[in-house]
Amino acid sequence: MLKAMNTNSAFLAIFLLSALSARAAPTTEYCDNGTGECKELTATDCPVLFYIEFIIEANNIKYCDKAKDIVCCPLPLNAQKRVMTPADPRKLYEKECRRYNDVRPTCRSTPLILGGTEVKGREYPFMALLGIQQPGSSTISWDCGGTLIHPKFVLTAAHCLETTETKEQRLDPNYKSPKFVVRLGELDYNSTTDDAQPQDFRLVNYVVHPAYDENEDDGSRLNDIALLELDRNATLNEYVAPACLPSGSGDEHLDLTAAGWGYTKNAGDKSSKLLQVGLKRYGDQVCSERLESRIVSRTQFCAGSGSANSQADTCNGDSGGPIFVQHPVYNCLKQVIGITSYGAICGNYKFPSVYTKVHLYTDWIENIVWGE
Ligand SMILES: *[C@@H]1O[C@H](CO)[C@@H](O)[C@H](O)[C@H]1NC(C)=O
Ligand SMILES: *[C@@H]1O[C@H](CO)[C@@H](O)[C@H](O)[C@H]1NC(C)=O
Ligand SMILES: *[C@@H]1O[C@H](CO)[C@@H](O)[C@H](O)[C@H]1NC(C)=O
Repeated sequence: MLKAMNTNSAFLAIFLLSALSARAAPTTEYCDNGTGECKELTATDCPVLFYIEFIIEANNIKYCDKAKDIVCCPLPLNAQKRVMTPADPRKLYEKECRRYNDVRPTCRSTPLILGGTEVKGREYPFMALLGIQQPGSSTISWDCGGTLIHPKFVLTAAHCLETTETKEQRLDPNYKSPKFVVRLGELDYNSTTDDAQPQDFRLVNYVVHPAYDENEDDGSRLNDIALLELDRNATLNEYVAPACLPSGSGDEHLDLTAAGWGYTKNAGDKSSKLLQVGLKRYGDQVCSERLESRIVSRTQFCAGSGSANSQADTCNGDSGGPIFVQHPVYNCLKQVIGITSYGAICGNYKFPSVYTKVHLYTDWIENIVWGE
């Protein structure tokens, strides 16, 4: 017995030594918890960062050795060592997330189950509708989705906020122009007997990401992310409660859920009912091929049904809404991994839709939402 143990620990020691020496070799130095590799910031060593360095904020680039310009170059999704990032307790949004979990007593013990397409009342209390109301009209055109991430702030896509007048004019209640309306706690906006408790809001401000860019020629978008500031805090309850920002990249999740009130088929009708779809996240290479390079894998990912037999997708009208996963720690909460941005054709598995990676922007969000 003793002999066997000795042999084992000798083996273990050798294994550890070789593991350590392998780590020390500069060619295999992983960083950012296995999602990247330390590389020189050059066009050949790390093209993915080299060419888009100017787009993302400098503090979003992770360095292995800043003085030598060695960056943490993101690995393709399928090559990444999947490590779940634990929450950073110093982050304000992580603290808030813990508090949000206590808003809804009913879900604390029963995990919410995905499945089917119609969302049940109170299932996704973070879902927001963004609509436009013409002056003098009582009807609202619900054109985009969003995610409540704080009682007063909704995360959405930048392209949902395109206006013909200035932002000041758009926000000024006395200026005659279409006005944005946000609705929370809705399920079927054409029904008053559904299991919903809607709350409507005006906007007092909205912030489009400063590097948002749309390519008119191919319809692709970059940094398609924005924040809406509501005119008051939402009343949090079983029907209205925020979702959490991701603690890490969320790259370990290949099964994601998207929800929205968008078109149910290409060139079809909008759905007045909140719908959900389960989607597969595709690897960067597949996204790039299927979308003919109209995607920047550093800041965007793509997802689709993963099968020719399924038409699951997000579509026009779902824009700005979340693609999310169950929170790893809090039963009541979801984590927003991406924001629905654009796609070529709805419901065709060959053409996945593109999502903005939320985790790259959490510092930007935190400054606006929880900053002074
Ligand atoms: C990786 O995860 C550890 C905890 O396991 C954490 O302390 C560390 O900050 C993470 N590293 C990076 C670069 O995010
Ligand atoms: C709105 O909610 C935030 C976050 O919970 C809180 O800090 C703030 O005091 C609230 N504001 C008002 C006016 O109630
Ligand atoms: C909602 O109801 C209105 C009025 O009945 C109708 O015109 C509209 O098409 C409906 N919208 C949806 C998406 O079902």
